[in-house]
Amino acid sequence: MEIIIADNYEEMSRVAADMIERQLLRKPSSVLGLATGSTPVGLYRELVRRHREEGLDLSKVITFNLDEYLDLSPSHPQSYRYFMDENLFKHINVDPKNIHVPYGHAEEIDAFCQWYEDEISRAGGIDIQVLGIGADGHIAFNEPGSSLGSRTRLKTLTKQTIDDNARFFDDPNEVPRFAITMGVGTIMEAREVLLIANGAKKAEIIAHALEGPVTAQVTASALQMHRHVTVVLDAEAGAMLKRLDYYRWVFEEKKRLVPRLIGKVT
Ligand code: PGA
Repeated sequence: MEIIIADNYEEMSRVAADMIERQLLRKPSSVLGLATGSTPVGLYRELVRRHREEGLDLSKVITFNLDEYLDLSPSHPQSYRYFMDENLFKHINVDPKNIHVPYGHAEEIDAFCQWYEDEISRAGGIDIQVLGIGADGHIAFNEPGSSLGSRTRLKTLTKQTIDDNARFFDDPNEVPRFAITMGVGTIMEAREVLLIANGAKKAEIIAHALEGPVTAQVTASALQMHRHVTVVLDAEAGAMLKRLDYYRWVFEEKKRLVPRLIGKVT
């Protein structure tokens, strides 16, 4: 696992965008796993900028989003499909038929979840999966206690997640209680994982997830078992890590000596 401590949110977003861009240069038809939430907004903004100003081409990518609230239609302003359209898809040249976001109105939920897993396989698997982390340590909506082998399925949100996400809704009672989410096992099959986090609110859970025990109580800790994870944090989110000085030193040395190895060699 490579842990990069960026100076601030802008640098975190740029380093993350560099990793996606390098992946796209290596393989223009990359399969991207995408996340929602406030954390990746800067990353998407940077990808849109590079598309517009530098010609970054996303015409061949295939995308799979991690999760979606149950019973919110794609046009609902708080749905994750709407979020992705507004923050990324509308502004780049991705082919709409290559976009996959779990469908919140699926009638046969189990069958839909199996179809989603099969679509990921048919696309050849996810090349790079972007992740945020919840204050309770979740990745996607894999709340504490989720099996580390779990697959795409329906999940009940915790009270903490509902409260955290209430800021986006006019009425806190409108926050959905259920979501369709990729499982921890689904995420672990991505060839590469890019976890991003910013702000002091994430410092404690980041320290648990990256340096604490691997446990289903903090599903992000499963990433310690993944063969290629890059974590990009701003200074606040990294502040409680025990080996912070070491991570900073590695990043500074790479920036100085071999920038192309950032995100590539631990
Ligand atoms: P956030 O959400 O980016 O809005 O902090 C992260 C998450 O819940 O996965």
